[in-house]
Amino acid sequence: MSSFPTNAALSRDFPALATRYRLADGRIIRRHYLDSAASTLAMGCARRVVDDLLPHYANTHSQAHFSARIVNQAYDWAHRQVLRWVQADPVCYTAFFAGSGCTAGLNRLARTLAARRPQRRIVLASLMEHHANDLPHRKHAGQVIHLPLSGQAPALGAVDLVALEHLLEQHPGQVNYVAVSAASNVTGIVNPVHDIAALAHAYGAWIVVDASQSLAHALLSINGVGATEQTLDAVVFSGHKLYAPGSPGVAVVRRALLEGGEPDEVGGGMVDDVSLAGYQLTTHFPDREEAGTPNILGAVQLGAVLNALQRVGMATIHAEEQTRLRQLLTGLAAIPGLRIYGDPDLDRTPRLGTVAFNLNGLEHGLVAAALNDYFNVAVRNGCFCAHPYVRELLKPELWALEIDPDAEGAAQRLKSWQGMVRASLGLYTTAEDIAALLAGLRDLQSRPDFYRAHYTADREGNFYHRTFTTPAETLFDPEAALDRALAQLSAMPTVL
Ligand SMILES: Cc1ncc(COP(=O)(O)O)c(C=O)c1O
Repeated sequence: MSSFPTNAALSRDFPALATRYRLADGRIIRRHYLDSAASTLAMGCARRVVDDLLPHYANTHSQAHFSARIVNQAYDWAHRQVLRWVQADPVCYTAFFAGSGCTAGLNRLARTLAARRPQRRIVLASLMEHHANDLPHRKHAGQVIHLPLSGQAPALGAVDLVALEHLLEQHPGQVNYVAVSAASNVTGIVNPVHDIAALAHAYGAWIVVDASQSLAHALLSINGVGATEQTLDAVVFSGHKLYAPGSPGVAVVRRALLEGGEPDEVGGGMVDDVSLAGYQLTTHFPDREEAGTPNILGAVQLGAVLNALQRVGMATIHAEEQTRLRQLLTGLAAIPGLRIYGDPDLDRTPRLGTVAFNLNGLEHGLVAAALNDYFNVAVRNGCFCAHPYVRELLKPELWALEIDPDAEGAAQRLKSWQGMVRASLGLYTTAEDIAALLAGLRDLQSRPDFYRAHYTADREGNFYHRTFTTPAETLFDPEAALDRALAQLSAMPTVL
């Protein structure tokens, strides 16, 4: 019988929520994890599904023995969960796993789509893209033209549809595809991917959507509202941003874009026959896109997450996260001297659970270090592998500091100022986590000299506490963990 947990029950099923660390003031408290945009925590029930599979573990690509059949069936199930997750029709789309995150899938697609239509040498990528959805296209697919965003820095919005149409008009028959994220990893701002798809298709271009920052937070249907011109051609994402660390990257691609062409990677498991003179590829999807032994356990863990989230319902998950997001935005806006990046008006510019900000006069590295050391709040700082976007958002401030962000050699001078602090939410984020962040920021804002006096910075803009150090190996030492595990082993009777 299927079980349908509540959002509250599922959101507590994360073993890492209990993690506690000792802080600079000697307190030992629970960690407030606000770094989900980098990687989410592991969902317990999905992990337990993998533990249950382990006694049957074997390779795929065979039906010869019980275990191989069990594992094949579980791996197929994971593919079906992915297709169902984005509501993709299995007749038209295939889902395949690649690499350890969406970077692998995006590189694959860039090479594949470039080979498919070599005469179309232009890719339009938005200015807000993570490097993973920019550099592969620059390297493999030709010339990348960056799409501007609506609004003015620092309150930039989503992709500017008028500018997109203008660029498509200016380059008739030359744009191979549009590469755009469903939501930014810096600001959480949501792009209207189905409207972008309709425009791209009207000019014969395809659309590749990087959904890494979207799928843990909201439903993204590959079909939009059902109009065929709005349908997405490829959706790529990372399982480690969807509560399944260790899972592979995922691509859902319209079969027609892959059929008939040579797969980008070749090897075992995707051929019908090989002779010394040549080889015959299987026509079977997804096998032909998955050369080699797959990351079976990671894929099944991800499949379990997707299934569990669907049982709760993404509409519920999204609504509850938006409540937390509003709480975060309101709290941040009330802190004097705090600047939020990206249009902060949620009704005008929808966002998912990520917010980037700076505190006037305090380097982002200092803020992140102090939040960790004094408040046990885990945030990230820097440029989040989205340098052009971050620089664009910061331009007014950099100009005010009389720094030309585009000048030769500016990067080194800018090190400690070019960046932001980012707080990002997950299913498990509570009002208490957000309150802890806000309390930390208020304290930083009210006594900056106290924090300044306790830190020193290196040339890279990393800040270190002068007296409080906690080397990572004092918190977790893999060798010591192995010793403990082996000690348990020797205490166990060996029974076969
Ligand atoms: C929007 C976006 N795209 C791509 C990536 C790259 O993902 P991965 O490192 O899993 O390949 C990230 C990672 O932060 C991201 O946020």
